[in-house]
Amino acid sequence: MSAHDGPVIRTEELTKVFSPGTRREVVALDSVTMEVGRGEVFGLIGPNGAGKTTLIRLLVGLLRPTRGRAWVLGKDVVTEIEDIRPRVALLPQEAGIYERLTARENLVYYGGMYGIDEDELYRRADTLLEIVGLSDRADEQVKRFSGGMKRKVLVARALIIEPEVIFLDEPTTGVDTIGARIVRNLLRRLSSEDDLTIVLTTHDMVEVSELCHRVGILNEGRLVAIGRPSELEEKYRAADLEEVFMGLVTGEGVYGGEA
Ligand SMILES: Nc1ncnc2c1ncn2[C@@H]1O[C@H](COP(=O)(O)OP(=O)(O)OP(=O)(O)O)[C@@H](O)[C@H]1O
Ligand SMILES: [Mg+2]
Repeated sequence: MSAHDGPVIRTEELTKVFSPGTRREVVALDSVTMEVGRGEVFGLIGPNGAGKTTLIRLLVGLLRPTRGRAWVLGKDVVTEIEDIRPRVALLPQEAGIYERLTARENLVYYGGMYGIDEDELYRRADTLLEIVGLSDRADEQVKRFSGGMKRKVLVARALIIEPEVIFLDEPTTGVDTIGARIVRNLLRRLSSEDDLTIVLTTHDMVEVSELCHRVGILNEGRLVAIGRPSELEEKYRAADLEEVFMGLVTGEGVYGGEA
């Protein structure tokens, strides 16, 4: 457990501009201020290009903010990133899997980079591969796996370091219905039992409603709504989150009734 008891993630006016001052300038993230608490499952949603991946990459220190600041586990993501890294896991949107290694080796090799004891890693790898339903393929090279199976290996790989915070950029994209349910159940259990803080992006509104305690809606780099799914539905008089989303992002008058 960490000593600090503020929010696990905090951003203040966090902004990322790519190619500033040129004709290709893109404001990928625009003054985003938000917080995520310990043990929370926080969903980031928004159309393609909204800034979701950019936000995650800033929070794990893969990008430097143009303006504003952010803290993970109470540490500044620019100046104290070395303190953050061992405690935080990332499943990138386009993750590099080690194609020539087996599923088990993928997990163990990755965990080894964090200096975790090898026996312990094999134990954790067994457990995780069992959970994602890949025990019987554990010793097969992953280059022979399907897309969804690779995605499951990557979720397991991110978890092998037993992080305090995990960022999952589209964890269930390409994963079948049963597999997605397994991944969601696992994440839900880790958040409630182990106080794991989870930030995930998804284009699946059902996933958000089922899994996320709170959600942030990004559009063109701006955080246009944040709150519990039920809160947002009420606030925007929408039947479901998809309606909230469509109304905020397209401006379509889908909010029920005369309101
Ligand atoms: N390295 C980069 N250089 C220049 N522009 C970038 C770079 N990375 C992202 N962008 C731009 O920033 C904006 C936000 O991209 P980002 O990848 O964060 O969107 P996203 O919400 O994750 O979208 P998706 O749902 O498609 O994954 C887009 O306009 C994108 O073209
Ligand atoms: Mg993305």
